[in-house]
Amino acid sequence: MSASTTSELYRDYVMPTYGRFDLALSRGEGTRVWDEAGKAYLDFGAGIAVCSLGHAHPKMAKLLANQAATLIHTSNLYLTRPQGELAKLIVDLVRLSGKVFFCNSGAEANEGLYKLARKFGAPTGRYEIITFMNSFHGRTLGGISATGQEKVKMDFAPLVEGFVHMPFNDLAATEAAINSRTVAILLEPVQGEGGINPATPEFLKGLRELCDKHDLLLMFDEVQCGFGRTGDWCAWRSIVPSGVEPDAVSWAKGIASGVPLGAFWAGSRPTASVPLCDLLGSGTHGTTYGGNPLVAAAGLAVLSIIQEEGLLENARNLGDHLIRELEAMNLPAIRLVRGMGLMIGIELNDLAGEGLPSIIATKALMAVGLLVIPSGERTIRLLPPLNITKSEANEALAILKKVLGAPLREKIT
Ligand SMILES: Cc1ncc(COP(=O)(O)O)c(C=O)c1O
Repeated sequence: MSASTTSELYRDYVMPTYGRFDLALSRGEGTRVWDEAGKAYLDFGAGIAVCSLGHAHPKMAKLLANQAATLIHTSNLYLTRPQGELAKLIVDLVRLSGKVFFCNSGAEANEGLYKLARKFGAPTGRYEIITFMNSFHGRTLGGISATGQEKVKMDFAPLVEGFVHMPFNDLAATEAAINSRTVAILLEPVQGEGGINPATPEFLKGLRELCDKHDLLLMFDEVQCGFGRTGDWCAWRSIVPSGVEPDAVSWAKGIASGVPLGAFWAGSRPTASVPLCDLLGSGTHGTTYGGNPLVAAAGLAVLSIIQEEGLLENARNLGDHLIRELEAMNLPAIRLVRGMGLMIGIELNDLAGEGLPSIIATKALMAVGLLVIPSGERTIRLLPPLNITKSEANEALAILKKVLGAPLREKIT
C-alpha cells in the first residue's frame, strides 16, 4: 500500500476539478459516515441528494452482493431481467404510460432528453429548448449549454447550439421566448444546485398550457428532486398534485442510492410517426453500461425499500419538522428557509469569517460533525437520506442552532 495520505494521493494524481473539502471518508452506516481518523459525522448531504437509503443499508447490500455474484454486465446487445423489471417499476411508480432508457448519470439522462426533443422537432425543423436561469443540468457540453449559469460555461465555447435561458417562474418571459424553432421546455421542478428554488404551481400549469398550445415537449429534470426527495415519487406532484404531466423526465442520484444509474422516461403521446417513447429507435441512442444487471438490481432494491419502509411519508414528515424548527429558531444568521420534503435550502446572511457564507457555514458545521452541501454564495442544503429518524433530525437541528447561533453572526446585513 502507498505511504501517501489520501490527501497527497489526490493532490498528486487526481485532477483538481472539484473544490473539495479536505475530509477523507472511509465508511458509513445509516445516516453516519466516519473519516479516516475515526471521527463520526451526521451525513445531511447524502452525497448530494444521492444516498436515499443512507449508507450500507443491509437489505440493499445483500441484494447487490447477490446480483454481483450472479451477473454484473452483459451490454445492451442482450436482454436482462432486472432492467426490464426496473423499467416497469418506474413506469408504475410515476403512474404515466411510456418507456424508460437507462444510462449512468444525470448529465447523460439529460442528453437523452435533448436528443429526444431534437428528434421530435426534426420533421418541422425545430430544435431550440428553453431552459431557466439558475438551473443546473450537468457538465457535459450539452449539459453546460442547457444550464442557466454562466460560471459553468466559461472557456468551453463554442457551446452546443439551441438552448435559451429564461427567468425561472416567469411565464410571460417564457411565452415571449417561444418562436418557430422552439421544440421543448426543460426545467427542474425544484432547482437544486441553484439553491432549492421550487417552481410555483402557476408556472408549472402555465408551462403545460404553453407546451400544448405550441406543440412543445414539457421535460422535467428530476435528477436531484425526483424519486422521493420531496416526499413524492415525482417532485412536480409535490407542487401540483394533479393535472400537470410532463412528456419526458430525467433521473439519477437518489434512484439507486449511490450506485451510478441514470434514466429518462418518455410518455406515449403521438408524434408525426410513432409514440414519443418509441421515437429513439434502434441505433439512435445507447451506452455500454446503461441499466446493466448490477445497477438495475440496485434501482429495484432502492425503489422497493422506499415503498416497504414508508420513506416518502418519512421525507414529508421529517422535512416539515426540519423546516418548522429551523424557522422557529429565528436565528439572525438565517435569512430564509426554502424547500419541500428532505430537500431544504437555508439561505444565510453575511457571516463573520473568510469567504462565502455557504462555505463558512459548511466548514463550521463539518468541524462539529454535521455534513451539509453548499449551494452558490449563501445557501446550504440539507439533503439527508430519506430514512433519517426524528432523533437524527433533532441532532442536526441542535448542531445547526449552535453553529449558526452566536459566533458567526457579527456581519449580519
Ligand atoms: C438537476 C440536476 N441535473 C443534472 C445533474 C447532473 O447529474 P450528474 O452529476 O449525475 O451528471 C445534477 C447534478 O447535480 C442536477 O442536480
